[in-house]
Amino acid sequence: MKVGIIGSGGREHALCCSLKKSNNIEEIYCFPGNAGTNSIAKNIDIDLKNFEKLKDYIIKNKIDFIIIGPEKPLVDGIVDFLEKFNIKVFGPNRIASQLEGSKIFTKKLCEKYKIPTAKFGIFSSIKPALSFLKNSNYPIVIKADGLAAGKGVYISENYSEAYVAVKEIFNGKFGKAENLLIEEYLDGEEMSFFIISDGKNYKMFGTAQDHKRVFEGDRGKNTGGMGAYSPSRLETDELNQKIINKIIEPTLRGLKDIKCEYKGFLYAGLMIINGEPFLIEYNVRMGDPECQTLLPKLKTDFSMIIKKCFEQKLGDLNIEWHKDKSICIVLCSKGYPDTYKNNIALNLKKIDLKKNQFIFHAGTKILKNEIVSNGGRVLNIVTMSNDLKLARENSIELLNRINWKNGFYRKDIGYRVIQ
Ligand code: AMP
Ligand code: GLY
Repeated sequence: MKVGIIGSGGREHALCCSLKKSNNIEEIYCFPGNAGTNSIAKNIDIDLKNFEKLKDYIIKNKIDFIIIGPEKPLVDGIVDFLEKFNIKVFGPNRIASQLEGSKIFTKKLCEKYKIPTAKFGIFSSIKPALSFLKNSNYPIVIKADGLAAGKGVYISENYSEAYVAVKEIFNGKFGKAENLLIEEYLDGEEMSFFIISDGKNYKMFGTAQDHKRVFEGDRGKNTGGMGAYSPSRLETDELNQKIINKIIEPTLRGLKDIKCEYKGFLYAGLMIINGEPFLIEYNVRMGDPECQTLLPKLKTDFSMIIKKCFEQKLGDLNIEWHKDKSICIVLCSKGYPDTYKNNIALNLKKIDLKKNQFIFHAGTKILKNEIVSNGGRVLNIVTMSNDLKLARENSIELLNRINWKNGFYRKDIGYRVIQ
């Protein structure tokens, strides 16, 4: 089979590597991919906004199915578009993608189906938002409504910080803003919970804990993700069941009630408070870097899982995982998540990997036969081991050998679980 992957990050390189292991896959195409996918797949440079051109290429090259990595094309309706041409696409349609694309859609669903989440208010202009904030308890959370690459969320400690947040959102820092959300601050521990769904059946697809803040000790600005480990230290059978009963099932029921079947990965970003799960957000895709942390642990042939999803027979399959834990550290360009330089060379030629160690490329490309940086998050260093401390040490040792002078990374990924 020929498969196409949409996206260019570490998540997409990890997806490529998992598919590459399967005997069923004869060719992988990556749209547009990065320097890592380039060595195992065909990178095709088509603008992801140009659905027409993507569709033409997929049909012309007889690609059997497509997996969508990032949220933007999903929210823009790429699945609905490609399916009109009988192309098999793994990912949710435009309506289901509102779970990520519109925080207000999700909050309303939570209200209707009694899904535990932070109390919230929706504001459509500056004045009422500010007068609400004058009389609020702090910290408080302020969010832009649409997609903002993980950066449209402010945790404000006082009124003057909240004032800046409201102004920035309504002044269009994250695109045109018609609404913002003001939310109660949930004080607990975060957990990422994944399922894979074929529209009729779904299965759990692991848990992870992600570190979104840029600096050690979870300080500084929010980023796309600085590292993750799996499984989350909070995971227990009892908590999994609560998450399924209180959050996942009512969400899927809510979608069914509007005649929408959920197909694809679904990622619930949760806050766990005294053993109880609260939904912070949904993402309609795998997490990045959680995907890179999780996929190496997968024992079952990934292409088989996707095939079963297209047949809507996921229920027949037992998804198996390696017992080892895994940790991912993200090597970033200095300056991320603000401004940084691109096109800085990375020397990966003499880098040997230990057993159960992987380098997934994120923001990289090939320039004049050399691998250079091409984004804020550049490489993902993953190590699997039964001992997370050792896994982290081995990832850091590898980062020391890579010794990229333009980069930085967090040395404390997994600190909550590693003594
Ligand atoms: P989101 O983009 O909604 O996932 O938010 C990004 C990050 O902000 C989350 O991963 C949390 O760390 C934090 N966050 C969002 N909403 C809340 C909340 N209501 N209470 C506490 N932290 C939050
Ligand atoms: N790691 C957070 C995300 O993928 O949204």
